[in-house]
Amino acid sequence: MLSKAHPNKTSEWKKLEAMSQAFSQKSLKEIVKNEVGRADRFCAELNSVVFDYSRAALDREILELLLSLAKTMELPSAIEAMFRGEPINETERRSVLHTALRSRSTDALYVDSHDVRPDIRAVLDRMKRFSEKVLSGTHRSWTGGSLRKVINIGIGGSDLGPAMVYEALKSHRKSELEVFYVSNVDGAHLAPLLAKLKPEECLFIIASKTFTTQETMANAEAAKRWMLENGMPESAARFHFCAVSTNLEAVQAFGIDPENMFEFWDWVGGRYSLWSAIGLSLCLGLGFDRFEELLRGAESADEHFRTADFDRNIPVLMGMMGIWYRNFLDFRSYAVLPYDQNLSRFSAFLQQADMESNGKMTGRDGKPLEYATAPVIWGEPGTNGQHAFYQCLHQGSDRVPVDFIGCVEPMYALGDQHSMLLANMLAQAEAFMNGLSAEEAVLAMRKEGLSEQDIVELTPFRVFEGNRPSNTLLLPRLDPYYLGMLTALYEHKIFVQGVVWNIFSFDQWGVELGKRLAKPILNALIKNDLTQVKDEFTRKNLERISRARPR
Ligand code: F6P
Repeated sequence: MLSKAHPNKTSEWKKLEAMSQAFSQKSLKEIVKNEVGRADRFCAELNSVVFDYSRAALDREILELLLSLAKTMELPSAIEAMFRGEPINETERRSVLHTALRSRSTDALYVDSHDVRPDIRAVLDRMKRFSEKVLSGTHRSWTGGSLRKVINIGIGGSDLGPAMVYEALKSHRKSELEVFYVSNVDGAHLAPLLAKLKPEECLFIIASKTFTTQETMANAEAAKRWMLENGMPESAARFHFCAVSTNLEAVQAFGIDPENMFEFWDWVGGRYSLWSAIGLSLCLGLGFDRFEELLRGAESADEHFRTADFDRNIPVLMGMMGIWYRNFLDFRSYAVLPYDQNLSRFSAFLQQADMESNGKMTGRDGKPLEYATAPVIWGEPGTNGQHAFYQCLHQGSDRVPVDFIGCVEPMYALGDQHSMLLANMLAQAEAFMNGLSAEEAVLAMRKEGLSEQDIVELTPFRVFEGNRPSNTLLLPRLDPYYLGMLTALYEHKIFVQGVVWNIFSFDQWGVELGKRLAKPILNALIKNDLTQVKDEFTRKNLERISRARPR
């Protein structure tokens, strides 16, 4: 069981609160100047991954208090409780064991007196055999040809993780087989894709932990209809449809043979399920060995999180820094900006992982929290963002802390372009922190040859106040191992914050209300039956839709 204590009652929280006002008055430049050796000290490493937080908005005293707060909030025992499989997801009465999915340990690990290690190994072996059969062409279409297009139908955690990884690593593909990810219930997602595919080449993975999710089931039914209408005999469905789920009954009811079901378990949270059979599309798209490397990278982050001292523990540093920013400096959003086009889906993945986990206002004791929790997480790859929203990051009214992510080696070397990419990333970190004073702006304008009158008029617009914090995560390269590590480091950062904020990070009751309300509204739209729709404004919009719809 996790402690139910509220962090704002601790002495560390009170001290941090007392210090925050004076700290806010200081500029980052000043803070940094007073700390000799900061560039080396504010840096943690794990297997050649460097986490540089020397431009973070904190000093040594604050960091020490934050790490002490983590201990007072019993983070060390919470970490152990998770790894040991204690039912820390109390509101769903479940253990939280995504770490077991990427562990090579053979020590028994019990959930409800059942050792889960052999189950994990057995499913991995099946994923390996199945992907090898498909890739070698032994698992064939009803026409006798190979399956070359894999369509993963899933949403949320059954989509974002594998889609992010596939997008990042698809250049590591070893075969011609292509993977597509369909999530949205909007027909605009599935229909145009089907229009360009040949049914006899398609393998659909229906990925859903519950196998009841409306969007996924609707897309799965549509895919099956399309296959049947386009020549697939009913008896051949077993070659073209497989399921990844915890719900055997629903999988069978849909018409998928249990032989074609890859199981995972209720102790794997949806948004933490990338490492389970939900990764099947990656075994097919990248090869099983690549998927295993991804697991190895995550395992090394797990080991680090479990064993490293807090002052060099990357997820602990990231998490506690985030708490300082959110609760004491009132930073309301957080940008994750990978300088790597391959990571274009990384921020979307993190949004679910972070905001569905920690976007909560009820303490573990059931009482409302008196402090803020999850900031809004967002981001896009650099350098694109520089030509879009960076204006606001540099000169906007809110200060938004940033994580830059860069890779030392490029995936594609194209002239000097990788150096340009890294140069931009490093320059942005510098600009965010140092800004540009009026004197510097004037000097720059003189160099540009502007008239003295223009200089006077333009100076207020060309000043950058700076003082905007950032961290830089440097990876040797983007490969399955380092991507696994990066992803797991962020997962653990979320865990740290959930523990300290005294919330249950592994449930998601907040997604239920909208789902429930959509049911009578759907009825109204399909059957024109408004009787169950109570909300006056919804009724009005339904009437408008009904009037405007072609009959
Ligand atoms: O609606 C939110 C959610 O429950 C997520 O937590 C989950 O990842 C997603 O839906 C998909 O759920 P499932 O895998 O059961 O289809």
